[in-house]
Amino acid sequence: MDIFEHIAALQNEINETTFSSADDAEKFRIRFLGTKNILKDIFGEIKNVPNERKKEFGQVVNAVKQAAEEKHALAKEKFEATNSFTNKDIDLTLPGDVVTIGARHPIQLVKNQIVDIFKRLGFAVQEDREIEDDWHNFTALNMPEDHPARDMQDTFFVNINPDIVLRTHTSSVQVRTMENQKPPIRILSPGRVFRNETISARAHCFFHQVEGLYIDENVSFADLLQTLDFFVKEMFGQDVKIKLRPSYFPFTEPSAEVDVTCFICGGKGCNVCKYTGWVEILGCGMVDPKVLENCNIDPKKYSGFAFGMGIERITMLKYQIKDLRLFSENDVRFLEQFKSVL
Ligand code: DAH
Repeated sequence: MDIFEHIAALQNEINETTFSSADDAEKFRIRFLGTKNILKDIFGEIKNVPNERKKEFGQVVNAVKQAAEEKHALAKEKFEATNSFTNKDIDLTLPGDVVTIGARHPIQLVKNQIVDIFKRLGFAVQEDREIEDDWHNFTALNMPEDHPARDMQDTFFVNINPDIVLRTHTSSVQVRTMENQKPPIRILSPGRVFRNETISARAHCFFHQVEGLYIDENVSFADLLQTLDFFVKEMFGQDVKIKLRPSYFPFTEPSAEVDVTCFICGGKGCNVCKYTGWVEILGCGMVDPKVLENCNIDPKKYSGFAFGMGIERITMLKYQIKDLRLFSENDVRFLEQFKSVL
């Protein structure tokens, strides 16, 4: 038989092949497409084909190969599809597995809300370590050793070294950032903080804060006010008003605590605001020049404001949660309720 007749016979064989099982398809694959397939042998014969027919030879062999590939692809599809449906082990009448979808933790949700609002004002997230040294947690923030303000925050010390503490507030990130970046600085630092408190409905030995810091030339108290007013309205509603009360923090001067009109009762008085119409949400102030100096920023050229708030507190107010311990007990009946909040 001449080589061209041989090729035509193979083409014919392919056309007429029918498959009744995956096995048949596999045998076909090995014969026509496997590593030692018959078409390779045929192709080897090209040396005996006269020059003027070599091109034609190449074309017919390739056409046969393509026909084999197409035929095999169809067979494969057919048997793969039927395989999964004919498998005796699968009972298609069984109900599907229930996939339970988790919910974000309320602290995480509120943190994201806070971050989103300040991002729109150009604040960037800057996180840092939970285990701090005395300088960044206290001394650089104007709380030298023996400063009475240190007693406001019952500190956990790391046993092996009294210079190392679990940070008592996220204000430590202010110091780290100012030490490492040149103004303008506009950062927001969410994170976990630790205090040696007896655990109760209103206190815990760890909780979360968000610290904000803005340093540039000519930053004023009015800028602070404007920023907080925007935040409060975005967070709690456009009708909410803010009130600043003079206060004291070692690292800010002047300092203030911020109250908002109670968004539960609209200021009329209820048990959330203890019938005052106001709830306290954060502390803030103009960064003390001494703190800028401690971080090698020239207080004659630059000024800035800072603020700090407890995420648990904001979350409790916003969702009327009465017990701080719920946040760390991982009771799904509590956590599940935040499924619908994005
Ligand atoms: N660090 C303070 C605290 O933990 C909160 C705070 C108050 C942060 C005033 C500030 C601020 O940046 O200006 O109680």
